[in-house]
Parts: sequence; structure tokens; C-alpha cells
Amino acid sequence: SGDALMGRYVQIINGPNLQLLGRREPAIYGTATLDDIIGSVRERFGSIEIRHMQSNCEGAIIDALHGCGFDSDCMGVVLNAGAYTHTSLAIADAIAAIERPVVEVHLSNIFAREEIRHRSLIAANCAGSISGFGAESYALALQALIDYDR
Ligand code: DQA
Repeated sequence: SGDALMGRYVQIINGPNLQLLGRREPAIYGTATLDDIIGSVRERFGSIEIRHMQSNCEGAIIDALHGCGFDSDCMGVVLNAGAYTHTSLAIADAIAAIERPVVEVHLSNIFAREEIRHRSLIAANCAGSISGFGAESYALALQALIDYDR
């Protein structure tokens, strides 16, 4: 809640299929909805503005990265790229192109799942990655970004 945080925000970006959280494979992704998750981090990080967008479209995710990634008021991005994590060189390139740090997040532990999910094309361009803590992954990513910013 210090001056360093005044007027600054974190951009959360959720990729494909994540608007279905709560009813999408709850045994893997939990029962919290995306609104529950965003609401809970907004409550916990009350002093920081949290902007959120979700899209199923690769290009819209890239546009969102460009939109905040050169903004000095943006502390950084918390990105769950969904399956694009494993396929999108274009999103990896967008993360490399922008100036603000990106933290990769996953609800599930991608390394404990199918082999194809073990590889992240975006990880090397991110400040770091958090995977496997369910809805809590977002709060951990936010805290990491805030600490990293200092
Ligand atoms: C995910 C993991 C990805 O492998 C998957 O395609 C998703 C969600 C996660 O949050 O655990 O859509 O990013």
C-alpha cells in the first residue's frame, strides 16, 4: 500500500477454455470459477489495481500483451496461456518483445500431466513460472510480481 504501488496495476490474462473454470474438468482444475479467482485476488491484493481479460483467441492475447507491455504503470502480467503455452511461438515472441515482466501460471502441475504439457514455449521468456497450486497459483504469481517489481 506504499507510494510505489500508487496508480500501478497488474494485468491478468487468461487464455483459451479458462472462462469455463468451475465446470471444466473440476478434478484437474478445481471448482472455483474465473470470477471467484479474480475476485479473491482483488480482495487479497486490495492496494493494487488488477485488470483482467480472458480470450480464447491467440491474437487477442498477443494484443493484450502489447497493450500493457510498454506501459510503465503496468507492474507486469500474470499469464495463464492455457494450451497455447505448449504451442504458441507467437505468444512467446510477444512476451520477449514487451518490456514488462510476465509470470507464467497454471492451475495444474503441467509437469505431472501428459508429456505434451511438459514443454512450455513461453517459460524461457517469462520472469518465472508457477504451476500446480490450483487457484492459489494466481495469488502466488501476483505476490511474485509485486516482490520482483521492488
Ligand atoms: C493450464 C494447463 C494447460 O496445459 C491447459 O491446456 C490449460 C490450463 C492450467 O492452468 O493448468 O488450459 O494452463
